[in-house]
Amino acid sequence: MRSYLEATDFWGSASAEALASEFGTPLYVYNERIIRSNLKRLSGLITKYPYVTNYSIKANSNLYLLQIALEEGLSADAMSEGEMRLLLKAGFPPEKIFFVPNNVSADEMKFAVEHNIIVSLDSIDQLDLFGTINPGGKCSVRLNPGVGAGHHEKVVTAGKNTKFAITDDQLDEMFATAAKHDLRIVGINQHIGSLFMDPEPFLKSVVNLLEMAMKFDKLDFIDFGGGYGVPYHKVSEDEQPFDFDSFEKKFEALLDGFVEKAGYVPLFKTEPGRYAFCEGGVLLGRVHAVKTNADRKFAGTDIGMNVLARPTLYGSWHDVEIIHDNKVTTDDPEVITIVGNICESGDIIAKERLLPKITTGDLVCVLDAGAYGYAMASSYNVRRRPAEVLIQLDGTPKLIRRADTWEDLFRGFEI
Ligand SMILES: Cc1ncc(COP(=O)(O)O)c(C=O)c1O
Repeated sequence: MRSYLEATDFWGSASAEALASEFGTPLYVYNERIIRSNLKRLSGLITKYPYVTNYSIKANSNLYLLQIALEEGLSADAMSEGEMRLLLKAGFPPEKIFFVPNNVSADEMKFAVEHNIIVSLDSIDQLDLFGTINPGGKCSVRLNPGVGAGHHEKVVTAGKNTKFAITDDQLDEMFATAAKHDLRIVGINQHIGSLFMDPEPFLKSVVNLLEMAMKFDKLDFIDFGGGYGVPYHKVSEDEQPFDFDSFEKKFEALLDGFVEKAGYVPLFKTEPGRYAFCEGGVLLGRVHAVKTNADRKFAGTDIGMNVLARPTLYGSWHDVEIIHDNKVTTDDPEVITIVGNICESGDIIAKERLLPKITTGDLVCVLDAGAYGYAMASSYNVRRRPAEVLIQLDGTPKLIRRADTWEDLFRGFEI
């Protein structure tokens, strides 16, 4: 078992203990070198055709990290007015923002229209609503290519069992609705789900979407969505990264086929979220108790399900490394369950894992926490969300979001 933290020199010139004592735990720590390298991989995905990567900011919407994504040449997609506001604040120009909402109000659509942000509509009703507020305008539509994929049924967003998108059999009604409002459909998009290591379902969805594209007048862009996987078992099982090189060749061949058949070259886009920041983030927590209940050993930490929801929400696996006396330890392995400090039995970070011996005072490092980590954190049990720190390219740490204060939590009460 190889240490990811040591292999990547994750903490730079700092150490886990120094970061924990300066910023407290729990703490999200990001490594800029790893992040920039992953962003570069994404932005250079397709070189043969006009191509843009929209970073899907729901995965991690830290303002400072958004600015890094912008510097690395990415555009972005937003799911809400809040995400659009944040992107504008980060410096993304409107033409680099794509609003891909689901079931939103006219007000949210108006915000996009007033800021010249292109909107994708994902049902006939939403298209109709958009037409009433922006007659004669242009838009995109989100289509369901009939194939879904993802790490859990809750994140599969195409195929038969999903609330998202417009299906092939609804296209006639969709065109009629667009015509009713004189809307020009300039783009189509899809997103089939989150986290696939096998590219075949995605490539199948590309084939299907490109077939649907033939039913439209010349399109400005075609967006294939995100979902590229990250090896969450890289330490425990030596899981290999998503093979972008072979994926890119197969993807490009499908685009070749479309360009030949359609006789024009649109702008192609994808919109990954997880891949951009996942491996560049580690969640650091402190062990406050070790106990044995009915033969089961538990390490009790300050990493509650309010800090990292994925294991509780999806049963997701995160590799874990243990730091004892400021060093990664591999000593005296035993089976142990790592839990948090929330009043729920499902408050489990890592269940029955073979891990080095853990003692009170050790630090627990949850790997691959940079995506859907802080972004899904909450103040459940009236706990303050943690701080976020970036290990910069020169190795020094920088606070990029402070932890919540009690005032932050109580601000909304009007008594
Ligand atoms: C519309 C849309 N695009 C892109 C993404 C990003 O997916 P991922 O983080 O798996 O790359 C999502 C995630 O749910 C999404 O809903």
